Amino acid sequence: MSTTLVTGIGELATGDPALGDGSALGLLTDAAVVVDGDHVAWVGPARQAPDADHRRDLGGRAVVSGFVDSHSHLVFAGDRAAEFAARMSGTPYDGGGIATSVAATRAATDEELRGLLAARVAEMRAQGTTTVEVKSGYGLTVEDEARALRLAREVTAETTFLGAHVVPAEYADRREDYVALVTGPMLQACAPHARWVDVFCEPHSAHAFTGDEAREVLMAGRAAGLELRVHGNQLGHGPGVQLAVELGAASVDHCTYLTDADVDALAGSATVATLLPGVEFSTRSPWPDARRLLDAGVSLALATDCNPGTCYSSSVPFMLALSVREMGLTPAEALLAATAGSARALRRNDIGRVTVGSRADLTVLDAPSYLHLVYRPGVPLARALDLG
Ligand code: NIG
Ligand code: FE
Repeated sequence: MSTTLVTGIGELATGDPALGDGSALGLLTDAAVVVDGDHVAWVGPARQAPDADHRRDLGGRAVVSGFVDSHSHLVFAGDRAAEFAARMSGTPYDGGGIATSVAATRAATDEELRGLLAARVAEMRAQGTTTVEVKSGYGLTVEDEARALRLAREVTAETTFLGAHVVPAEYADRREDYVALVTGPMLQACAPHARWVDVFCEPHSAHAFTGDEAREVLMAGRAAGLELRVHGNQLGHGPGVQLAVELGAASVDHCTYLTDADVDALAGSATVATLLPGVEFSTRSPWPDARRLLDAGVSLALATDCNPGTCYSSSVPFMLALSVREMGLTPAEALLAATAGSARALRRNDIGRVTVGSRADLTVLDAPSYLHLVYRPGVPLARALDLG
């Protein structure tokens, strides 16, 4: 395995408080990193850097840990731009548009879906994302859900079975039959291709699932060997957060509407609250109160939720900007949430920080400091560093 000395790093945000300036972000200036194969072998001041087989000079640019996008729905075909435009003029989001994506996804060939998925993952990498979680949920038949997960597995180990995304139209008047399908044959066909099971727990949407249905789906998923994640509290107050905490889910995602009891349940629990501010942007919804969660001691993650309905953005830097401008986070807190926090939401300790032994997932910025990720919104500064 050959080694590469990455040097000329004007500022390195390691995410390891044991390194650098002692802040949570572990900032080092004039830094270097030695990469051995796909792992970090050394981190420190450039003047102390050991020799390596190859050398790469970044010319004073800032480097951060690659973004971990712990929530996305990238396996879909079709277009819902008109739905977005209608929302901007006041039409509320209720999950009904998911049916449009389901029809287009079912009609697409494997090759079409594979191409769309690859393009979306490449778009993410070009914006600094080095790990992505991908959900199914636009197939909603045994074959189409299994196909989505097989394709997702080609691009990531973090695959999530979301057969319980909505009740498809053909089951509208017999939803208990659909829950039986999801927890039975669909789960059996999908579990071999998935690490996680997820459910859209949202009593405020006629299309999504109640707390009791969500519990059934999650328990069945767990029995099939999958780990748990939950879409909860997106459209109104509801049981999603409490259920996720009670069942020890790795993450509950959205958390737009929270009671004090929800915040108390999350604080000190093993469940990360994953905020998806692109959704609030794209559905004209109120912002989740990230400050309140962090001050209560809740573990926070930030992700895109990239999907054709509620947020067709693959940009983690855009989410950082929204969370600082609208949700009360500092730039450092936002960056930590989108790296170490999202890694925690995926129960991964090999990513989300630049420290010895972690994966060499480095994101380089055409800027002198990580602050520019938020200071210069909309400017394509970040890209995943290719050392190969
Ligand atoms: O995470 N809320 C449920 N699912 C997606 C949106 C899916 C869609 O509208 O296509 C979400 O926001
Ligand atoms: Fe989602």
